[in-house]
Amino acid sequence: MTRSALFTRLDYDPHQGQLRLHESDARFKVLIAGARFGKSLASSHDVLRDLLSREVRGWFVGPTLALAEPEYDYLVQHARGRLGLEASREDYSARAHRGLTFANGSEVHCLSALQPQSLLGREIDWLVLCEAAHIARDAYERFLRGRLVSREGRLIVATTPRGHNWIEELYQRGLQACDAWNSFRYATWDNPRVLPAEIEEARRTLPGPIFDEQFGGAFTGASGRVYPEFEPARHVLACDPPAGAVSLRGIDFGFTQPFACVWLCVDHDGRISVFDEYFRSGATVLDHAREIVRRDEALAARGVLRGASFADPAARAEREALAQCGVPNGPAENALLPGISRVRQALLPRADGRPGLVVHPRCVNLIREFEGYIYEELTRAGEPLPVKGDDHALDALRYGVMGLCSRADWRKFGVLW
Ligand SMILES: Nc1ncnc2c1ncn2[C@@H]1O[C@H](COP(=O)(O)OP(=O)(O)OP(=O)(O)O)[C@@H](O)[C@H]1O
Ligand SMILES: [Mg+2]
Repeated sequence: MTRSALFTRLDYDPHQGQLRLHESDARFKVLIAGARFGKSLASSHDVLRDLLSREVRGWFVGPTLALAEPEYDYLVQHARGRLGLEASREDYSARAHRGLTFANGSEVHCLSALQPQSLLGREIDWLVLCEAAHIARDAYERFLRGRLVSREGRLIVATTPRGHNWIEELYQRGLQACDAWNSFRYATWDNPRVLPAEIEEARRTLPGPIFDEQFGGAFTGASGRVYPEFEPARHVLACDPPAGAVSLRGIDFGFTQPFACVWLCVDHDGRISVFDEYFRSGATVLDHAREIVRRDEALAARGVLRGASFADPAARAEREALAQCGVPNGPAENALLPGISRVRQALLPRADGRPGLVVHPRCVNLIREFEGYIYEELTRAGEPLPVKGDDHALDALRYGVMGLCSRADWRKFGVLW
């Protein structure tokens, strides 16, 4: 049965965010979302198909038994009710385990991660970690991950975030270009069935970081995100430029640290699309230039015009070397806080609700940095400063955006589309 036929039969009509989870074939899926987004409903439906297709064993594991029960109940209710699967055996032990074996031999179990040793011993085909941000890292790494090995089982991690804990690392893994892992992050309001008035009430009455975490699905913590406006569900969008667009580049140099170049363009409305990135360490300026020129030529073949490049003004020798290798460039405006502020402004929604800056999904490093870039807790001269390090693609973007905004150079870019 196809996925959509199954969902129709179950009378399940996933909303856009849930659909993206279901459409992913990644073996490891990380779904981070605000309360009531529909995480439990989505993860139980995602594994239901496995249960029908062959004889499988799957686990819902929560920080306590009660916290895995919604997923388990959804699945069992649907399998028995709408799909008419007979149960041949039911297990129940008050605090630690519920389980059901269906007539086709498939098994589903609901377990608590509180006694992880009790999870050893069985091999499983799928695992759903329910409210995973409240499960100890050790329970996953020592006791649960290994259960998936012999059957190459799949994993769904579904949770509202909880500070910058180990779940954020799993989430980041799914943002990298790797087919096995895929990450999704949504807010409560991405579930169209949640009433906006409920969200507004919570926004008014909860402390900001708690609201951002519990409803916004954001990884917040003592040290705040530099770009809290960045929401993958809103800002990550396939946005290749049409013929006639002018592409600009922002460039940040590095050798042991990565060298980063981002390509961006702006539409007639002043909306910015960041549509490509190049991110590499340990290579020479000549290597970088060759790759940049190669991509520019591919763009030119599609009718995209080459505009200016803005590079780190502090790296004068590297800029000159890059220019000699065929990538002419100018010094970027490098004031950090004004640059951050400009990028934040661009990220904000416009009158029509769409943001002023979007990033193509292929820019995996830029997306990862947007999510992980945080302020140091210490401040210098009263001004918060971001933690240095994972900011190369972001610096390149900042140079590009500042270049774009420098009106003096505006005419040089020619006519934008
Ligand atoms: N696609 C959908 N169709 C109909 N109702 C939905 C859908 N998605 C979610 N809901 C409803 O939204 C509510 C929340 O769903 P669910 O329990 O799956 O969310 P959750 O993110 O796991 O919430 P919590 O944060 O409380 O664990 C439920 O009443 C559920 O029935
Ligand atoms: Mg839930």
